[in-house]
Amino acid sequence: MIKIAASSGPSQGSIFFNFGGPGSAGDTEFAVYGDVLLALTGGVYDLINIFPRGTRTNLPFSCYDSPEERNLAARLRPSAGNASDVALGTIWAASETIANRCYQRNNQTAHLLGTAFTARDIISVVDALGEDGLVRYWGISYGTVLGATLVSMFPDRMDKVLFDGVVNAHEYYTNELEYLSDTDKTLSIFASQCVEARDRCKIAGNYTAKELEDAIYAGLERIKYNPIPLYLSTGAMLLDYSALKSTIFGGLYAPQTWPLLASSLDVLFSGNTTTITAYFSALSVNIEDGPDDTEALLAIRGSDKLISESTLDQFLPHTQARFGKSRIGGDVAEASIIDCLRWKTRAKERYEGDFRAETRNPILMIANTADPVTPRASAYNMSAGFEGSVVLEQDSPGHSILVQASLCTAKAVREYFLNGTVVEPGTVCKSDAPPFAMDDGWDSVLAQLRGNGESP
Ligand SMILES: *[C@@H]1O[C@H](CO)[C@@H](O)[C@H](O)[C@H]1NC(C)=O
Ligand SMILES: *[C@@H]1O[C@H](CO)[C@@H](O)[C@H](O)[C@H]1NC(C)=O
Ligand SMILES: *[C@@H]1O[C@H](CO)[C@@H](O)[C@H](O)[C@H]1NC(C)=O
Ligand SMILES: *[C@@H]1O[C@H](CO)[C@@H](O)[C@H](O)[C@H]1NC(C)=O
Ligand SMILES: *[C@@H]1O[C@H](CO)[C@@H](O)[C@H](O)[C@H]1NC(C)=O
Ligand SMILES: *[C@@H]1O[C@H](CO)[C@@H](O)[C@H](O)[C@H]1NC(C)=O
Repeated sequence: MIKIAASSGPSQGSIFFNFGGPGSAGDTEFAVYGDVLLALTGGVYDLINIFPRGTRTNLPFSCYDSPEERNLAARLRPSAGNASDVALGTIWAASETIANRCYQRNNQTAHLLGTAFTARDIISVVDALGEDGLVRYWGISYGTVLGATLVSMFPDRMDKVLFDGVVNAHEYYTNELEYLSDTDKTLSIFASQCVEARDRCKIAGNYTAKELEDAIYAGLERIKYNPIPLYLSTGAMLLDYSALKSTIFGGLYAPQTWPLLASSLDVLFSGNTTTITAYFSALSVNIEDGPDDTEALLAIRGSDKLISESTLDQFLPHTQARFGKSRIGGDVAEASIIDCLRWKTRAKERYEGDFRAETRNPILMIANTADPVTPRASAYNMSAGFEGSVVLEQDSPGHSILVQASLCTAKAVREYFLNGTVVEPGTVCKSDAPPFAMDDGWDSVLAQLRGNGESP
């Protein structure tokens, strides 16, 4: 566990965090966003992060002896389901080898991983702390699945609960589709912000937003048939459709890096292999010993899954539904989804209820208007099951409020943790992060929060 101590006088209790993944250990996020989290909780609580089972020192989960071995396994197949006609069959076959390997290496602990266990771990720590016996919780992305599970298993133990970047937990445990609802919309906002900030966006040219979007899709089709060889210090590799598509999809999470994403696309679409190799060699990191919990995401999600389809044919309609739901993201995660489906072990305990609960305080949920992986629809879906919960919309693209600051959202969160009051249903907060700039806006928003004479 790690703790950030309350900054304004003695602590009034603890707030527990989970930053998603699943499998995010939370230490990096605490280091980067500690100040923001303290400010938004009024500085009067201790902030606590438990390494979720599967990560760091808590039953760390790894399937390989070395990074080289891990890379070799990844090269068996493309990661994107639509990379070619044979991609899905290749992914399906390779996922069996991955599942077997992971089982062989972790058969003593794999069944002890999963969301219900992590929920119980939080309760154990709350009991040991001996505060008021109640759980205050802030979950982001998958952290909202953990939160929804925690609330549903222990409704009487919950005090204030905040979900940011809400996942449809029903789908997380079975089959995922709704998460792609706003993905293409996020790409459209990337394109329109790019052409509005022509001087800061390398690929704007004199395109309209629509033309730029078409050019990005055309670039993806080109690279599908003409992958680009790269000669890196670690050896030769191909910059292919899967790599490019997941770069774009991943970039959509974080609008504060969009000028950088535009520069990468500019280099790529230049067609000049000298420039491309130079640019991507500079970006590539040397293979180092990764943390020994690299497969935690697979292990937690795989342990949690409740799905009965067991052949590629049975599974295909789900894949095709995802392809149909989003053009930019519908096939990006297919390899990882199939890996979890074919996982060899299931958690010994799983929550199998319907995510309906009455809590002593209303739960506050926050959804960005264009989040590439946790759309507004999922926040409203989960809100329907939790009596009195309210959805606050923040009018900004990207995944979670941490990537784009809003003074209005910051005040609503602080008021919630200090006074327990939730915003009116239908409240929309505007973002204060400058569009298409390498700035998430937090410096300015925190200064304004402090300027109001409020600590910390
Ligand atoms: C179970 O784990 C042990 C120790 O890692 C390993 O030697 C054994 O082969 C595994 N069993 C199976 C069936 O994979
Ligand atoms: C768009 O830009 C290109 C060069 O970047 C130029 O050749 C072309 O004339 C421009 N088109 C319009 C309509 O301005
Ligand atoms: C590619 O870029 C390099 C370095 O910027 C330049 O020297 C070279 O002329 C370019 N090649 C082509 C075919 O444009
Ligand atoms: C899949 O590939 C086909 C053919 O290249 C393309 O028309 C379609 O839009 C792609 N769909 C996705 C989700 O990538
Ligand atoms: C929430 O999503 C699940 C899974 O898609 C669905 O079965 C359920 O009907 C939805 N609930 C509401 C209230 O929309
Ligand atoms: C909390 O409520 C009190 C009393 O209603 C009020 O004075 C105070 O400004 C509120 N604090 C915040 C942060 O909204």
